[in-house]
Amino acid sequence: MINKDFLWGGASAANQIEGAYLEGNKGLSNIDLLPHGEYRLPIARGIRKYSDVPEGLYYPSHEAVDFYHRYKEDIALLAEMGFKCYRFSIAWARIFPTGLEAEPNEEGLKFYENVIDELLKYNIEPIVTISHFDVPKGLMDEFGSWKSRRMIELYEKYAVTLFKRFKGKVKYWITFNEINMILHKPFTAAGVWIEELENREQIIYTAAHHMLVASALATKRLREIDPAAQIGCMLAAGEYYPYSCDPEDVRVAQIANQENYFFIDVQSRGEYPRWALKKFEREGIQLDLTAEDVQVLKENTVDYISFSYYASRTQKANTEGFDTNTGNAAGGVVNPHLSRSEWGWMIDPLGFRITINSIWDRYQKPLFIVENGLGARDKVEEDGSIHDPYRIAYLSAHVKAFKEAMEEDGVPILGYTLWSAIDLVSSSEGQMEKRYGLIYVDKDDKGEGTLKRLKKDSFYWYKKVIETNGEDLDPDNFRK
Ligand code: BG6
Repeated sequence: MINKDFLWGGASAANQIEGAYLEGNKGLSNIDLLPHGEYRLPIARGIRKYSDVPEGLYYPSHEAVDFYHRYKEDIALLAEMGFKCYRFSIAWARIFPTGLEAEPNEEGLKFYENVIDELLKYNIEPIVTISHFDVPKGLMDEFGSWKSRRMIELYEKYAVTLFKRFKGKVKYWITFNEINMILHKPFTAAGVWIEELENREQIIYTAAHHMLVASALATKRLREIDPAAQIGCMLAAGEYYPYSCDPEDVRVAQIANQENYFFIDVQSRGEYPRWALKKFEREGIQLDLTAEDVQVLKENTVDYISFSYYASRTQKANTEGFDTNTGNAAGGVVNPHLSRSEWGWMIDPLGFRITINSIWDRYQKPLFIVENGLGARDKVEEDGSIHDPYRIAYLSAHVKAFKEAMEEDGVPILGYTLWSAIDLVSSSEGQMEKRYGLIYVDKDDKGEGTLKRLKKDSFYWYKKVIETNGEDLDPDNFRK
C-alpha cells in the first residue's frame, strides 16, 4: 500500500503553458525565441543562433495555453481530479525581466503568489522548479548566459528572492529542470549556443559547472532562509541498455549512463566523478573550478532526487545499419523489444522500475517522479468527449511499475507528477498536436483555437487513481 501522504499530481513549465510572454513587465526568455518549424531543432541544439532566422515565424510560447489568464479555471480542474500537488516553474524573466535588475518585478512575484495561494486554497502542494529551460534573453545578450560565471550570483539572487517571498508556502523546490539536457540541447536547457570556432564540450561543461555551483548555492540559501523546505535536483532519466551482451555494447551503455548521471553525481554526492575529471584532463577541457566551488558543491548536496522518465534508451557500439531514429534527444538505437509512440518514443514500463532502482541504488536519497507521460494525437468527438485509451494504458502501466518499485523493492518515492495535467506546447517540436494532457486545450499548431478546456477520459481515470491512492489502475475504472 502506498503511504497516504504520497503526492499525486501533474507537472508543467512556465514557457509551455503561461503565454502572456510580455505581459506584467515580463522580459523575453530563451524559449520565446524558439520558433515552430525547421529552425527549432538547430537553435535548440545551439548550432544556429536564435537571431539567424527569417521574419514572420510562429513562436508557440508567446501565447502557449494562456495559463497566465486562466490559472484559476485550470487549478479548479486539478482540484476536481483530487491533485495533492502541482509542479510548475517560475519564469525568471517575470521576476527579473532582463536578469540584471537590482530589484524584482512585483507584478511577476504577485502572479506566482496568486497561483500558489490558489493551489493552497485546494490543499494542493506547490512543487516549484526555479528554472525549467528558462533564461532571460538579457543575460544571453549580456554575456552568453551560463557560459559566464556571472550567472551564478544572478541565479542566486533570483532564487533567494523566491525563497523569501514564498517561505512557508512552498515546501519542495527544484533548482534546474533536466540539467543533463544541456548535453543535447544547450540552448533549450541553458540559453547557450556554440560559435563556429568554439569547442562544444568546453562550452557545455563550463556552462554546466556554473549551473552546478549555482544549484549548490541556492541549496545553501534555502537552508538558511526556510530550513523546513526541501530542495532537489532533476534528471532526464531513462536507463541505457546495452543492445546485446557483447562487452563492446555493454561498455558504451555504461559510458552513456555515467554521462547521464554526471550532473546528479555532483548535486547529490557533492563532487565530480573521477571518470569525468580524467576525461577533462585527457581532452583538454578546463573547468572554471575554484577551491570555493569545490567546498560549496561538497557542503550543499540535495535533499531528494527528482527525475523525468519517458523511456529507456539502448546503446550499441557499432550502429551501422541500425535505426537510430528514436525520437529522443538522448540518442541510442531502436529497441526491437519495445513498442513506440506516434512520435517514435519507446514505451517501456519495466524500464521505469529498472531506472528507479538504479537511481536509488546510486544515491540512496528519496526520489520524486516529476514527469512521465505520453505525447499523442487526440480526437474530440461531437459531444465534446475525448477517448484516449492509449494514454490511460501508458500511465496505468507506468504507475504499476513505480508502485512495484516502492512496494516490492522498497524504494522511497515522495510523489508522482505526470506530464502533463493539461495540454501544452511540446518542448522538442513546439507542437500542440503532440498532446500530453489529461485536460484538452482547443488550440492547433498554427496557434488557432478557442483555448477552451475539455476533460479527456484520462482525466476521470486519474481522478479514480488518486481517490483510491493508486489501488485502482484498471483502464476502465472511471466507467464503474
Ligand atoms: C521533458 C521536459 O524533456 O520532456 C518537458 O522537461 C517536455 O519540458 C517533456 O515537454 C516532453 O518532451 P516533448 O519534447 O515531447 O515536449
